[in-house]
Amino acid sequence: MLERQARDFKVGWIDHSFWEAGSGANLALARTFSPSPTFPPPQPHPSTIKNPLAKPHHQKYLMPHTIAIIVASTPRPTLAIGKSLTNDMPWPRIQPEIAYFYRVTRRVPPTPPTSPFKYINAVIMGRKTWDSLPPKYKPLSGRINVVVSRAASSTTSTFGELWVGDIEEGVRVLKQKFPVPSDEGSRETDEEQELALRRIFIIGGSQIYKLAMEIPKTSEAYPTCILQTTMLKPDYASEEGVDVFFPPIDENQWTKGDLDRLVEVTGEKPERVGGVKEEEGVTFEFRVWERAL
Ligand SMILES: NC(=O)c1ccc[n+]([C@@H]2O[C@H](COP(=O)([O-])OP(=O)(O)OC[C@H]3O[C@@H](n4cnc5c(N)ncnc54)[C@H](OP(=O)(O)O)[C@@H]3O)[C@@H](O)[C@H]2O)c1
Repeated sequence: MLERQARDFKVGWIDHSFWEAGSGANLALARTFSPSPTFPPPQPHPSTIKNPLAKPHHQKYLMPHTIAIIVASTPRPTLAIGKSLTNDMPWPRIQPEIAYFYRVTRRVPPTPPTSPFKYINAVIMGRKTWDSLPPKYKPLSGRINVVVSRAASSTTSTFGELWVGDIEEGVRVLKQKFPVPSDEGSRETDEEQELALRRIFIIGGSQIYKLAMEIPKTSEAYPTCILQTTMLKPDYASEEGVDVFFPPIDENQWTKGDLDRLVEVTGEKPERVGGVKEEEGVTFEFRVWERAL
């Protein structure tokens, strides 16, 4: 019984930490904390914690993960993100922005080599964005790729991607396929580490961003604001072919976070993400927006 409680408690902490971006401390605590004769410590059992997000024990694998949007767009009010005719970005490759996207969407806390699992993030995208990826980048490496389509049930996966009918289904499928094991134990050296879901990123395009903004679980957005580029006219709204936009942001719900918060949620170094940057003829700024849950 004691052992069972100990295990439940440990799982409670792990699940709870998903709600606290950057709360690696809780996770580390959960991972290193092993049952002892004095266990459990005098904290309430997770099922009695008055946390509105807490779920009963039997739903431990169904804890809702937060969803984060990551996007590159021109400043408000335009918020241009693409060209529908060519199913492409408004600008040619902006290498620092691509590198940032790669780092942020792949970054996970490490688990010790003896752990039976390792973390992985997931990216959810619309079918058109999936189509826009060159085959050599499919699937986006080191992340679980999920594609949203109305034809999901009749589509065959060719690059290991998962096809789903909507974002909520994507989240459900991810949590079923990649749960955090409840009993960490230790693995035999010849056993492969099991993948466990860490974070979910919505990576576009416009239709999927709009759907994601309507879901309360979407609680963070990491926009890269493309302020100026010599590749395009300054007025993006009238730029020929630029006709795909990020949906309007409700400022009653969303507020801009500061640099400390950006550093905390992305795991990036302040000097790397702070302030307006200029590289390769592009002026841009990494930002974070948060929604009050
Ligand atoms: N700047 C950026 O950060 C960024 C990021 C990503 C993409 N983009 C750009 O955005 C553009 C693509 O965006 P988009 O809005 O045209 O397409 P999208 O959001 O990538 O994909 C649209 C597709 O998603 C599926 N879908 C949409 N709503 C659905 C719903 N309610 N239920 C089920 N499936 C649904 C449909 O797939 P089916 O037709 O298969 O049913 C639909 O055709 C491109 O220009 C791309 O370059 C920019």
